[in-house]
Amino acid sequence: MIKVALPKGRIAKESLALFEQLYGAGFAFDDRKLILEHRDFTFMLVRSQDVPTYVAHRAADVGIVGLDVIEEQQLEVIKLLNLQIGRCKVVVGSPCGKSLDLQKPQLKIATKMPNITRKYFANKALSIETLKLYGSIELAPLVGLSDAIVDIVETGSTMKQNNLKIDEVIMESSAYLIANTNSFYEKKEQILALYDNLKSTL
Ligand code: PRP
Repeated sequence: MIKVALPKGRIAKESLALFEQLYGAGFAFDDRKLILEHRDFTFMLVRSQDVPTYVAHRAADVGIVGLDVIEEQQLEVIKLLNLQIGRCKVVVGSPCGKSLDLQKPQLKIATKMPNITRKYFANKALSIETLKLYGSIELAPLVGLSDAIVDIVETGSTMKQNNLKIDEVIMESSAYLIANTNSFYEKKEQILALYDNLKSTL
């Protein structure tokens, strides 16, 4: 039995489709249910930012989650396979028509991803103030809450429609199969079988 944490949100549909492809149609969670038993698996539906927590604490043996979330959460998990779905970029963005002055003392950056943000600017030896928000990040520089944002860009339409531009790309992201370290050693055969199956769908 392998416990698999699947993300709700942006990569949910694509990762559920992968499992459907592998384990047959009808692979779906009932209405509001969060646990699904199927063959040798227990699947659980988890908020995507929480997938590394479930895997690191071994509530799940493996999980699917974006590289951006893995970087942000900084928990100990094994990255097994790039699933090539849920591609997006983490970028620094700011209002069009103004150049972003990275040298400005205490530049205010609004973001859902404070760890990635701090690390990126610390590596450039720039001092910033991070404002942690939980959504609608693009609003912050439009109403004077921040000078810039660090956020996810997928199609680019949210930034475009809010008159923001990309100043810098921090990282490219896509979804990964991750595993708990102990699970990986104890359930190596089953996890590698899942790895091979997922790899064959790419
Ligand atoms: C994400 C991200 C951007 C948007 C980017 O937000 O924070 O706002 O998607 O996608 P796009 O480039 O295709 O327009 P999400 O949809 O997860 O909602 P949230 O703001 O509530 O976190």
